[in-house]
Amino acid sequence: MIKLNKVEIKPDIYWVGGIDWDLRNFHGYEIQRGTTYNAYLIVDKEITLVDTVKHYLFDEMLARIKEIVDPQKIDYIVSNHVEMDHSGSLPKMKKEAPDAKIITSTRGEKGLLRHYKKDLGFRVVKSGDTLNIGKRTLHFVHIPMVHWPDSMVTYIPSDKLLLPNDAFGQHIASSERFDDEIEWGILREEAAQYYANIVMPYGDQVKKALEAVSGLKFDMIAPSHGIIWRSRIPKIIEEYKKWASFEAEKKALIIYDSMWGSTEKIAYALYEGISESGIPVNMRNLKNTHISDIITDIQDSKLILLGSPTLNNGMMPSMGGFLTYLKGLRPRNRIGFVFGSYGWGGQAVGEIEKILKDLSWDIPFDSININYIPDEEELNNAKDIGRKIGIYLKK
Ligand code: FEO
Repeated sequence: MIKLNKVEIKPDIYWVGGIDWDLRNFHGYEIQRGTTYNAYLIVDKEITLVDTVKHYLFDEMLARIKEIVDPQKIDYIVSNHVEMDHSGSLPKMKKEAPDAKIITSTRGEKGLLRHYKKDLGFRVVKSGDTLNIGKRTLHFVHIPMVHWPDSMVTYIPSDKLLLPNDAFGQHIASSERFDDEIEWGILREEAAQYYANIVMPYGDQVKKALEAVSGLKFDMIAPSHGIIWRSRIPKIIEEYKKWASFEAEKKALIIYDSMWGSTEKIAYALYEGISESGIPVNMRNLKNTHISDIITDIQDSKLILLGSPTLNNGMMPSMGGFLTYLKGLRPRNRIGFVFGSYGWGGQAVGEIEKILKDLSWDIPFDSININYIPDEEELNNAKDIGRKIGIYLKK
């Protein structure tokens, strides 16, 4: 049997999660540092496990639990969220703890039944319900759509501990468990990338969730992925408020693909013009930048320029794939600009414009669409437009 160090995060409350060192793709979102699935064991009169881990890390979680208690003695398993990275070990865990009741939301029960086709012995809790387990009382707050309709927070007032599942998570596999053991730059980058790729469409629900927990007193946020927050709670809450409001910096981001270099020439002319206006501008070539990294850049940038040549009467597939992802994540309050080149037809620019209009972005300038190869005058014109857009953003 493997033996693993136990991590006590509060007196008699232990992190018993699993570390997924090798994962680099989280349902299409490319991650750099692996991830963790965090489960927490509360040792009280009635022993309670909060969440489980992805199915293939069950043995690791069980080994950690066995360091602390006999799993058969577990009375409750709280399932804050149905998604399989957290519930994947629930059926096996139920076999280890046959008397445990599964505490979940109404939608959680429905979701778990659809996933595991079996009544695991559920006890449904409404938002605001409590459960006394001895010295502690657990409070349950529903936070629908952060990340799924079933999502729920478990709050333990006596320990000032918030267990919000996906909210405040980051994909970081690490031997460190706490936010003061890792550089803020890395934490902020991973939390931002996680928010952009997973939580972004649900800004309104995140605001409601932040309101719902704003009256609670806590000095630790222990999410279901990555590092536990104890020293930088105000900082991460500030970031969440900003992201949930779709606030962005006065920065520009040029996202493009090119076939024979014409659209790229326009991209660089725009880049020059925007730079001259004094606005910071970044370039993202869809050929070599993953869409999940670009979405994170969009979260930070107010002005988004999108360029594609026309290929087979439409946009380049790389741009099509990116815009499909963008439409799903629905960033708001952005200024958009479209450019491209074509041999005949020239439909790509119109297709991109339509998507930006559907997202209700501000599109203050006419698009550029150039036949075959831009000449000097056309490139100067693109540079001039870049400058004007930069000035527009500065206002
Ligand atoms: Fe980490 Fe929505 O699951």
